[in-house]
Amino acid sequence: MHIIDSTNALLIKHSALFNSSTTTLPSSHLEVPRITQEQKALAQSCIQNIETLMPSSQLNRAVIALGSGSTAEAFVLEFALWAKKHQWQGRCIASSKRTEQLAHAAGLSVYLPTKDPDIMIDGADYINASKSMIKGYGGALFREKILAQRSTHYFILLQSSKITDALTQKTIPVEVLPFAASYFYQALIAQGRYQGMFRQRADKALFVTDNNTLICDITLLQSPLPPLDEVEKELKSLGGVVETGIFSGLNPEVFIEDKGRITKDINLFLSSSPNIGC
Ligand code: A5P
Repeated sequence: MHIIDSTNALLIKHSALFNSSTTTLPSSHLEVPRITQEQKALAQSCIQNIETLMPSSQLNRAVIALGSGSTAEAFVLEFALWAKKHQWQGRCIASSKRTEQLAHAAGLSVYLPTKDPDIMIDGADYINASKSMIKGYGGALFREKILAQRSTHYFILLQSSKITDALTQKTIPVEVLPFAASYFYQALIAQGRYQGMFRQRADKALFVTDNNTLICDITLLQSPLPPLDEVEKELKSLGGVVETGIFSGLNPEVFIEDKGRITKDINLFLSSSPNIGC
């Protein structure tokens, strides 16, 4: 079957999924996060840094935005311990329902995003020398991006294996409105330089985000690869796109774990490849 026909068939078959409203699971249904020692160390190092960012009276009233993914979850758990110990009075905003449930279960107060976050802490899927990132492998990219854009301080915690000099060679998640999903897909394929697939769950049903939208995972076919900003502009112009997983121009402060050590200097991991910045 033609690639567009088979994608249309998938969208129609599972349309009930994104037409019904999603509900938040009670925290008793929360899967226990799988967190590594490296992620725990990153979270602890970030908390030490947060303690030096502002006077404690200000920190005690701060708004902290929580990212999604296992590294962000490590931060949530470590921060909840810190918050309890210091009787922290601030508030959190969560970038996904899962993070919200975890934060609640850990004893943090989570609010709707009405105030700009003072600090956002998140993980990333890939990052390059210019600190542009690919995010959204966990499907929370829209909320993660808007919180990052509104935050005064933006911290990214990751392992050195996620540093690359060729972001456009990686899969780029794009969040798409279900109503426009087929039109988006047709426009994407017609463009000629992309391949895409709507994300599916393990049971082959369509993956539906917390926003009741779909994720199309895109790869670039073209060589040489175009600049990241050009890709983002083009993808957004296709219609039906809520947001892309290309995070550029946000200049996060990075915490990098490498062989048991944590550094904030991404330059230590640069290759001399001319592709840097793509
Ligand atoms: C969630 O949508 C993503 O942007 C995550 O930040 C990303 O997938 C990193 O997740 P891990 O910390 O689990 O690698």
